[in-house]
Amino acid sequence: QDLFETLAAEIEVLKKERKAVILAHYYQRPEVQDIADFVGDSLQLSQQAANTDAEIIVFCGVHFMAESAAILSPNKVVILPDQKAGCPMADMVDAEGLRAYKKRVPEVQVVCYVNSSAEVKAESDICCTSSNAVKVVQSLQGDNVLFIPDENLGRYAAKILGRSLQFWPGYCKTHDRLSKEDIQQAKNEHPSAKVIVHPECREDICEAADYVGSTAGLIKYAQNSENQEFIVGTESGILHRLHQVCPEKKFYLASERLVCPNMKLTSLEKVRDALKNLSPRVTVKEEIRVKAKAALERMLAL
Ligand code: 13P
Ligand code: SF4
Repeated sequence: QDLFETLAAEIEVLKKERKAVILAHYYQRPEVQDIADFVGDSLQLSQQAANTDAEIIVFCGVHFMAESAAILSPNKVVILPDQKAGCPMADMVDAEGLRAYKKRVPEVQVVCYVNSSAEVKAESDICCTSSNAVKVVQSLQGDNVLFIPDENLGRYAAKILGRSLQFWPGYCKTHDRLSKEDIQQAKNEHPSAKVIVHPECREDICEAADYVGSTAGLIKYAQNSENQEFIVGTESGILHRLHQVCPEKKFYLASERLVCPNMKLTSLEKVRDALKNLSPRVTVKEEIRVKAKAALERMLAL
């Protein structure tokens, strides 16, 4: 704890010197969330990145999130404290594969979950996050729509809208670890708890849940619900904010395996060093950035 306090104080000084803003995702380590200027879900973080006056953005999250900030704000310095913090789901689709698909299926409209690379966004018509996927799909007319790369989120949106979409076989390796048996066991142990899960969970799990939503959606649901106990089907980092906003309520992680190793790579030491060295920086080639920005902005305009 003393070490955390020392590092937090160092970060505070460097942040002021650098005129930097620190953004963090709800899946980050608690101590990292605590030093951030803003903690949010993917959509809120990209909105913050687009609107901040700060010249330096330290992004405590994974690569695609920092990359989205660099796409939206080319004149800002965007720093990802650990270069290796990637997202296995984002790596499940590449621009070449997507181009081949588009050749095979002419006129297909591509909805691209933000958990993807800039190159893939550049080949897509519109982006979405887990909090606006339904709205984004709804904004497109016709049947010829491909949802990439998260098949679970795509199927969830399709089901709500009663639409038939085309899917890409991508998934989140962390949420995929959650099984129906885990949920059943948690329900047996906590019979009055509501089950709240992220749409990256498998289809049968979303179907069995009381509420499905983005990280910000899950937090809001727990806050507004009269229920006192919740079984939580998403990455463990969210518990920190849930306990902060609902100190009197009880939250049970649906499985101990709900830990995203990439989200946990960011530490206070790495944030401090990133501010000191202004690296590792995330940049995007201009021709790709312009196209990827168009897909992100179509989403942000909705
Ligand atoms: P949200 O915060 O938008 O729900 O995203 C979840 C996620 O998996 C980010 O990697
Ligand atoms: Fe990627 Fe899943 Fe980790 Fe989010 S939780 S960064 S989707 S692997």
